[in-house]
Amino acid sequence: MARKAAELRGALDPLAAGSEIGLVPTMGALHAGHVALFATARQECDVLVASIFVNPAQFGPEEDFQTYPRDEVEDAKVAAEAGVDFLFVPSVEEMYPQGFRTWVDVEEISDDLEGAIRPGHFRGVATVCLKLFNIVRPERAYFGQKDAQQAALVEQLVRDLAMGVEIRLVATVREEDGLAVSSRNMHLSPDEREAARALPRALFAGEEAYRSGSDPVVAARNVLSAEALLEPDYIEVARFNGRLHLLAAARAGPVRLIDNVILEGELT
Ligand code: PAJ
Repeated sequence: MARKAAELRGALDPLAAGSEIGLVPTMGALHAGHVALFATARQECDVLVASIFVNPAQFGPEEDFQTYPRDEVEDAKVAAEAGVDFLFVPSVEEMYPQGFRTWVDVEEISDDLEGAIRPGHFRGVATVCLKLFNIVRPERAYFGQKDAQQAALVEQLVRDLAMGVEIRLVATVREEDGLAVSSRNMHLSPDEREAARALPRALFAGEEAYRSGSDPVVAARNVLSAEALLEPDYIEVARFNGRLHLLAAARAGPVRLIDNVILEGELT
């Protein structure tokens, strides 16, 4: 486990020329969604690096930075079992030392949906991803479809800044009842957990409506509005890099859930 960028470079620099490095950026509290990213990267790359960094820059002042789940020992175990070769676990000071002044803004895509509700969130995501790419210098970096807008933002970032990193997207991993696996699910009460199932159900209803030629947003909204414990933030269709997504976010008690399905197009 490396805590300093220089330490990680010290481990990566001696690798044989031509070794392809895959990077999976995470905030830890590793679960089956992260493991799916590790598994895909493991298949496609010679060397697998995962980062664990709860990035303060992407949390708003009222958000859950302090209470975000952290369990380094368990994470190290999960990562090792999933075939991660190097874990990079920097401190806040390592990533944002005193005097840090440079931020990356990806215009337009940062303004809607999650960006509208979480001002500054995507600036924090773009900046930390760019910095991680510069430290690790991967051939490929892996992101989950679950955070579709984030994945599209990173695709735009590497294209605009000619970063030479291939962005690979991995399908959303779900619980048996359809709820997308997320580290925040553990904060749901049993009633809220039950209600949360309506979010994927709404998206699947929207998907079906779209296939039969009717409005996916209306179909999804009908399912969501029947669930009193869910407070929807948005249900919208958006196009990201040629993929058409139906996206929804809703609050169940203290937890914000986001999810999406692809109506047209493929993950790349
Ligand atoms: P985190 O929430 O830890 O997620 C890390 C990666 O795992 C993201 O690409 C996310 O889309 C993916 N992921 C999460 N749940 C998933 C699921 N159920 N199925 C498939 N993939 C899933 O997203 C972040 O961290 C941060 O914003 C980060 C990119 C690390 C930048 O700080």
